[in-house]
Amino acid sequence: MKKLLAGLVLSTAALFSQGVMASGDVVPLEKADIDVHNQASLARGAKYFVNYCMGCHSLAFSRYNRLALDAGLTDQQVQENLIFTSGKDGEMSKIGDNMVNAMRPADVEEGFGAAPPDLSLTGRLRGGDWIYSYLKAFYVDPTRPMGVNNTVFPNVGMPHVLWELQGWQKLEKNCTPAAEGHGEHGAQHCTEHLVSLNPGKISGPEYNQVVRDITNFLVYVGEPAQLHRKTIGVFVLLFMVLFGIVAYFLKKEYWKDVH
Ligand code: HEC
Repeated sequence: MKKLLAGLVLSTAALFSQGVMASGDVVPLEKADIDVHNQASLARGAKYFVNYCMGCHSLAFSRYNRLALDAGLTDQQVQENLIFTSGKDGEMSKIGDNMVNAMRPADVEEGFGAAPPDLSLTGRLRGGDWIYSYLKAFYVDPTRPMGVNNTVFPNVGMPHVLWELQGWQKLEKNCTPAAEGHGEHGAQHCTEHLVSLNPGKISGPEYNQVVRDITNFLVYVGEPAQLHRKTIGVFVLLFMVLFGIVAYFLKKEYWKDVH
């Protein structure tokens, strides 16, 4: 028993430390501040996704008609505004199809050095804050094949697909001599931060909203059931209370003649 308990404690600790390591980036993540119940934001996020991302990334576990339902859109709205891709069979996708593109990962891998992963579960694996920060963290880096790098995902293979909206950023390094008594003589303390080189088509706050909508959409996609889980939970609890009352009176009825 003791061994079992110790094992449990250790494996839980390992799980947590893994979580910390996975998100243990050098750069602190920004809060995404998303709301998966905001249907307008989900619909906008879906629209940006099909326009800017789906050329490379699929969402193999999502169907268009489920999205229509959850984002408060009609099937026709989805068919007209969100379906631009054809499936693996080369035919235009239909409303009941999964959200996949016709691209073959191997082809793209050749171009980018890494295959664009399916993003169905990225909202769960990486979390909203990570995606939000990642999409804001591209900067010009001529040493990289795509000409850009990313502070959240160093040496990423993805180009800065939203550059038209955000404009370009560069990474600025500020060094000050380290406080005396710390480290060797002449040691420097450096901080890095992103500064805008030229503005994009939309303002900074507007860009944040675009990225927030995409993030919201991807977090929703990671677990569509989260929209309904809590409502179902309330019904389950209500049922249990009602059933409890019925069971209580039934028990009273059964035992009333037993003394
Ligand atoms: C031109 C192709 C292309 C487009 C368009 C594109 N990506 Fe990517 N993306 C990639 C590639 C390639 C990678 C893999 C990078 C690597 O592993 O170095 C990637 C990786 C990612 C990752 C990291 C996944 C992970 O967990 O490792 C996220 C998140 C992501 N893309 C989101 C987006 C979003 C959101 C959009 C639309 C705004 C988008 N991408 C558009 C090519 C693309």
